[in-house]
Amino acid sequence: MKRKGIILAGGNGTRLHPLTLSTSKQLLPIYDKPMIYYPLSTLMLGGIKDILIISKPNDENSFKKLLGDGENFGINISYKIQPKPEGIAQAFLLAESFLDNSPSVLILGDNLFHGDSLVSLLSEADKEFKGASIFAYAVKDPERYGVIEFNEDGIANNIIEKPKNPKSSYAITGIYFYDNTVVNKVKTIKPSERGELEITDINRIYLDEKGLKVKQLGRGITWLDTGTFDALYEASGYIRALEQRQGLKIGCPEEIAWRKGWINNEKLKEIASNSIKSGYGSYLLKLIKE
Ligand code: G1P
Repeated sequence: MKRKGIILAGGNGTRLHPLTLSTSKQLLPIYDKPMIYYPLSTLMLGGIKDILIISKPNDENSFKKLLGDGENFGINISYKIQPKPEGIAQAFLLAESFLDNSPSVLILGDNLFHGDSLVSLLSEADKEFKGASIFAYAVKDPERYGVIEFNEDGIANNIIEKPKNPKSSYAITGIYFYDNTVVNKVKTIKPSERGELEITDINRIYLDEKGLKVKQLGRGITWLDTGTFDALYEASGYIRALEQRQGLKIGCPEEIAWRKGWINNEKLKEIASNSIKSGYGSYLLKLIKE
């Protein structure tokens, strides 16, 4: 069965108030695009064509206005409301009927991945139909994340959510590949002290079953989260610097769809015509000419 994708774009974004008082965090700009374009692009680069977007009740219409049913990207997009943010793992309960027993990949709507080897890492993880694959990334401040601990042989042996004294500098990034047992696993866990169904608890179950693959994202890959003012600003700066230098866009789902042959020249021209003045449309038109 083909793997299906989930983008979790819920949460109250309280660390970004007042920016997020009237809009979803995942709709805020990262330089020249709405934040959700980046995780959407990541899933598309991984070849995922069936995608569920989970959002807060008030935001669903904005996401629909922006992304529609996915036709512009040659994919199928469905929507589901998360009435209350009760943890990342809750996404699988909300996605149960969408998944319909398929393997899945969940990406957090505020996680930005970029780098040359990303596509091969994603397609490697996609090929695993048993167990789970997660990605570890060295960071300066692991205590802000789920942290993976390794034994002397470099084998992952523990995962701790936001440890006070992290034993490694490897954070778990916000993209998770699971087999079709994940929904039932989520049904067995209880909310944590912060009242959330923790994705770390799910990963720990896979680890105990010896079904967890932890892949390291190396220095050539950039992983940014965008949950604070500074992180948001830095992510915009990163995207701007690369785009200005190369003249190529990062996180452009129309381009990915076109390069993969999921949409044709006519469709790309039609989409471009709505955004000529901003330069986004002329970028898309230039792709066809080149
Ligand atoms: C969540 C997860 C954490 C993971 C992080 C990645 O943290 O709980 O394990 O490392 O996403 O962005 P939260 O965003 O809930 O603080």
